[in-house]
Amino acid sequence: MLGIETSCDETAAAVVDDGFVVRSSVVSSQVDLHARYGGVVPEIASRAHAELLTPVVAEALVEAGVEDGDIDAVAATYGPGLVGALLVGVSTAKALALVWDVPFVAVNHLEAHLYATLLDDPSLELPVVVLLVSGGHTMVVEMTGHGRYRVLGSTVDDAAGEAFDKVARYLGLGYPGGPAIDRLAMHGDPTAIAFPRAMLEEGYDFSFSGLKTAVVNHVRRHPDVATADVAASFQAAVVDVLVHKLRRAAAEVGAKGMCLGGGVAANSLLRERFLDACTTDGRRGFLPSRAMCTDNAAMVAAAGWWRLRADGPSPLDTGAVPGLGLPVTAR
Ligand code: KG4
Ligand code: ZN
Repeated sequence: MLGIETSCDETAAAVVDDGFVVRSSVVSSQVDLHARYGGVVPEIASRAHAELLTPVVAEALVEAGVEDGDIDAVAATYGPGLVGALLVGVSTAKALALVWDVPFVAVNHLEAHLYATLLDDPSLELPVVVLLVSGGHTMVVEMTGHGRYRVLGSTVDDAAGEAFDKVARYLGLGYPGGPAIDRLAMHGDPTAIAFPRAMLEEGYDFSFSGLKTAVVNHVRRHPDVATADVAASFQAAVVDVLVHKLRRAAAEVGAKGMCLGGGVAANSLLRERFLDACTTDGRRGFLPSRAMCTDNAAMVAAAGWWRLRADGPSPLDTGAVPGLGLPVTAR
């Protein structure tokens, strides 16, 4: 399966066997192109995908040692994401599928992040509860079977990654903010400032906009505060809420395991606290490598493999769906 991912600012292609054996995974980041604007500029992203995708696909095929006629199907992310960016990947995938006369599979980006947790460990026993934390989404999902999901909670305002990016921008740490805060927090005191933990004991929804405002207000009132202490205290507040709700959800549904996915799952403190929680609670932990947490095409090929088995090929008139949600099933 050739996977293609172009939903935001990473141009990626990968070749994956049987839904989990990664033969190649190439990711070309556009971070440098967008950094000076402090965020992703959609038109710049689309143009960069159009320029980069062909060489990125070629590299993925060469690295995987694929000969002509070796690809059985082509999967691409068709949503959610930036419409122009998605269209580049979807059109390319459909063209390749037509030329090679193989099935095209349209993949939901959120489902792909869930499947990233399976890439490293296909022995996953269900049900599992997955904490999906990225730049655009924050949700706790119960996965009861392949393609069977129940969303237990999600953010009512900012996504966790968005909060990292906004706070980093306010602190002058640049874009993308998550990795910058992660690095700086290592030199700060996470107990220095008692930032709020919103909705900690209420259900499984999240709210991060109040925390962001609390950071701004604290820095305004204490202009000499050490930025590393702010970063560490902010990160601790986010991670506390994420891990607390994930554990509570896993206990409630009697999950066999807990998984982390999405770009924020690359965060050092979240990874550490997640593994501690799995040990303490006696649940199996599934933690993808950092490279498989952030956007990549191996996860798209993995999800595409399961979708192809379940639903067959996607129609060639499938378009980009920028606001696509996770397909939810009853329990
Ligand atoms: O999954 P992803 O690559 O793209 C989306 O689908 O959104 O996630 C990107 C988000 C960004 O907000 C970025 O700041 C955050 O993931 N992120 C991190 C870290 N690495 C990436 N947040 C916290 N700590 C990190 N180490
Ligand atoms: Zn993503």
